[in-house]
Amino acid sequence: MKIVSVVGARPNFIKISPLIEEMAKYPALKNYLVHTGQHYHRTMDRVFFEDLSVPEPDVNLGVGSGTHAYQTAEIMKRIEPVFERERPDLVLVVGDVNSTLAAALTAAKMHKPVAHIEAGLRSFDKKMPEEINRLVTDHLSDFLFVTEEAGVDNLHKEGIPKSKIFLVGNVMIDVLVKNKPRIDKRKILEELGLETSSYGLLTLHRPSNVDEKATLGKCLELLAGITASLPLVFPIHPRTRKRLKEFRLLKKLNEMKRLKICEPLGYLDFVKLMSEARFVLTDSGGIQDEATFLGVPCLTLRTTTEHLASLSVGTNLLVGLEKGKVLQAVRKAVLTPKKEPPRMPYGDGQAAQRILSSLSRHFSF
Ligand code: UD1
Ligand code: UDP
Repeated sequence: MKIVSVVGARPNFIKISPLIEEMAKYPALKNYLVHTGQHYHRTMDRVFFEDLSVPEPDVNLGVGSGTHAYQTAEIMKRIEPVFERERPDLVLVVGDVNSTLAAALTAAKMHKPVAHIEAGLRSFDKKMPEEINRLVTDHLSDFLFVTEEAGVDNLHKEGIPKSKIFLVGNVMIDVLVKNKPRIDKRKILEELGLETSSYGLLTLHRPSNVDEKATLGKCLELLAGITASLPLVFPIHPRTRKRLKEFRLLKKLNEMKRLKICEPLGYLDFVKLMSEARFVLTDSGGIQDEATFLGVPCLTLRTTTEHLASLSVGTNLLVGLEKGKVLQAVRKAVLTPKKEPPRMPYGDGQAAQRILSSLSRHFSF
């Protein structure tokens, strides 16, 4: 049995790690790892392979950055000969990035079965590039591994047969559970001169928040208001750094008191910072689930989310970019004592195990 697994962007490198570890338990299974090269800077790429001991990819397609059409098409062109040569019995894709869509589309056209990890999530906002990637990938996939109940409902409503849908939980939470002892030992707070619960953690990279000057300017106004209550740590995503430079907003950011900016962080350091933060302010997808698992208040700088469980069982609040709403939520997070994390459905660190056991039953390996 041969699986070709495809990764390309930061959250993919994290999500693939427990799957690869689980695959190694099946002697009759060979995994071939393709890196599309969508993300390539050390802080967006290499550091995750090192932190999580993900094996060296068998091939890196070196696609790099570009428009959606360029990136998707270039991945398809470069991955087709890999599928031809490697003859996979199954192509495995994770998440909702352009690499996910491009690999699934190429595989489906070559009549290769596709397994999609993190299927079924919907924000119902087609202006979000990821929503298009999710929709198309799910409808091309043969095995849809879903993280939460709402995902199953979404797929049913879209007419996907029940026999293809497997509710298994979230591999990103597997990574957190497995690495918690290593995360706890990190010294990043000392390195940044921070104390537990004395700061908020910020990430920002959605095109809808950072690609327009006026909106990014509005985000900066928000930060000025928030840092009046508590210092913020801001590891800056390369898309956002590029926009800040282009719109000449970097100086304004640098001048903000009580805002600590840094390069994107490795996984272990980032999750350590998140687990000790008073709150997380983010427009990331995955961080909403991680914050829920850790019981850290999550203020999501969006008006929609595909991670519904984090709203219902967790601490997640959709605050958008409305100043009043954001500042009120920050005040509440600062004043409310930290609670025990909620019990997250499927937050048992066993999602990858369930995925591999479903596949092994189906393919008899
Ligand atoms: C991509 C995903 C997004 C995911 C995010 C994770 C798509 C459509 N988007 O967004 O869903 O949440 O990754 O972080 O697939 N850049 C660098 N170095 C790198 C990578 C990117 O400088 O290593 C810069 C380039 O200027 C590039 C820009 O960041 O143009 C955006 O990169 P891209 O991969 O197109 O999208 P992300 O915003 O990273
Ligand atoms: N993350 C990280 N370093 C950072 C920011 C995020 O390791 O500086 C991790 C985070 O803990 C989560 C993942 O990256 O596991 C989320 O990726 P991102 O926000 O880029 O993508 P999304 O989930 O929005 O697709």
